[in-house]
Amino acid sequence: MKKGLSQSLLVASLLGSSLPASLAADSVQGAIDFRESVMTTFKWYMGPMGAMAKDKIPFDAAHFRSRAEGLANATRLDVSEGFPEGSIGESEARPEIWQEWDEFVAAYEALRKEAEKLQQVAASGDETAMKAQFAETGKQCGDCHKKFRKKK
Ligand code: HEC
Repeated sequence: MKKGLSQSLLVASLLGSSLPASLAADSVQGAIDFRESVMTTFKWYMGPMGAMAKDKIPFDAAHFRSRAEGLANATRLDVSEGFPEGSIGESEARPEIWQEWDEFVAAYEALRKEAEKLQQVAASGDETAMKAQFAETGKQCGDCHKKFRKKK
């Protein structure tokens, strides 16, 4: 009996790993779509702040503040859900993400921390401090991309 049970479990797990092959592919693509959407959302909020930091558009404290708030909110999403083990697919993700998972997660935590601080600093309306903290936040994007995102 016992043997029979473990055999049927084995069969079930074998079936389980072969049956939903397309389903697995779907969920990998879903994860990739999720993380790329989150990243695109970051870019959306960073854009105007970056343009202000580089004096490409006039500094507007209220606009900056709303962007900083949006970014901080967006970083509260758990992007790690979008990186299931080995989910490279057609994306720019590098295998180092899973080889050095703790470091990857720490890099995301660092972004969250700086984005949160940016939101606080932005509430002060101090242009110099806001631009400095924007640079600090942007550095977290660049540092992570350098190590964990394929170059185009
Ligand atoms: C913890 C690491 C990490 C941090 C922090 C990070 N990114 Fe990314 N980013 C990635 C990885 C990995 C990819 C490649 C994902 C893929 O191709 O599926 C990526 C891709 C992107 C993309 C391309 C998305 C697409 O549709 O292909 C943009 C835009 C982007 N990031 C913007 C940002 C911005 C802006 C920040 C900072 C506010 C940021 N990222 C912070 C890891 C990170």
